[in-house]
Amino acid sequence: NWTPDSFVDTTVAGLKEELGDDKVVLGLSGGVDSTVAAILLHKAIGSNLHCIFVNNGLLRKDEFSSVLKQYEGMGLNVKGVDASARFLDALAGESDPEGKRKIIGRVFIEVFDDESNQITDAKWLAQGTIYPDVIESVSVNGPSVTIKSHHNVGGLPDFMKLKVVEPLRMLFKDEVRRVGASMGIDKELLGRHPFPGPGLAIRILGDITAEKVRILQEVDAIFINGLKEHGLYDKVWQAGAILLPVNSVGVMGDERTYEKCVALRAVESTDGMTADWVNLPYEFLQKTSNDIINKVKGVNRVVYDISSKPPATIEWE
Ligand code: XMP
Repeated sequence: NWTPDSFVDTTVAGLKEELGDDKVVLGLSGGVDSTVAAILLHKAIGSNLHCIFVNNGLLRKDEFSSVLKQYEGMGLNVKGVDASARFLDALAGESDPEGKRKIIGRVFIEVFDDESNQITDAKWLAQGTIYPDVIESVSVNGPSVTIKSHHNVGGLPDFMKLKVVEPLRMLFKDEVRRVGASMGIDKELLGRHPFPGPGLAIRILGDITAEKVRILQEVDAIFINGLKEHGLYDKVWQAGAILLPVNSVGVMGDERTYEKCVALRAVESTDGMTADWVNLPYEFLQKTSNDIINKVKGVNRVVYDISSKPPATIEWE
């Protein structure tokens, strides 16, 4: 009979035997899967697990520092690498959605390769791959996607020559959450919405600048914190804000403004393959819209996305 506790016991014992005294490298994303995989491996091999958490500059507001602290608090041997400038430089001027994804994938591989090469004699690459990642081409898992899509470019980076260990590859998402809970991982972390590997880059339509990232981080934080404060966060499968490449006219006092428009998106889904927009209370939308327009300089209009998937997708890019 499958229980989270028995899964943890057998998996940890199996990992101990398989890995022995070997060093293992793992990329943490801040998401549920890589975190649960890391804690399982940490139980088995302790500080021989070397975690790398890369800031691509496209995470949510304050997420890099707060999640890094959380990882350290869990006792993980983790190195935070702030590569924001490197990603933003590489992205400058690119407005094609797939072009952005390719650049982010390439830079991630470069940064990860530099870092993992500093861990001498690493033998294994651990990944938080879960069962749906194994069977489906669409994945909500950042690193596994970016790594795969890079296979045909030039020579293989060194870390891709490592043996691969994927302790969650037989589990579905809800099982991963239950395993995480049974190991004492913070409820809030386990309940986090999925977040795409390319991050805010695919929610800033058109080209990306540091200023646009800052604006979207502010908007997104107001929306997400609002959902939490109103007890709506856990009723939504995924939510986020999109910065549109449109300016529209507004008024502020006696002045005419000509500023950015943001779209809010919140969907219900079970696996991301199909999704429906969430009927958020009007009062909540009203308050959120006012907060955004009053607090975020450069935004004068907020719209709510009421498209279901299919035919729309969850992300706009
Ligand atoms: P779509 O927009 O295709 O999104 O309806 C379905 C789910 O996949 C996520 N998504 C991505 N995740 N890299 C990722 O790691 C990507 O390039 C990517 N594009 C979409 C999206 O956030 C949603 O959960």
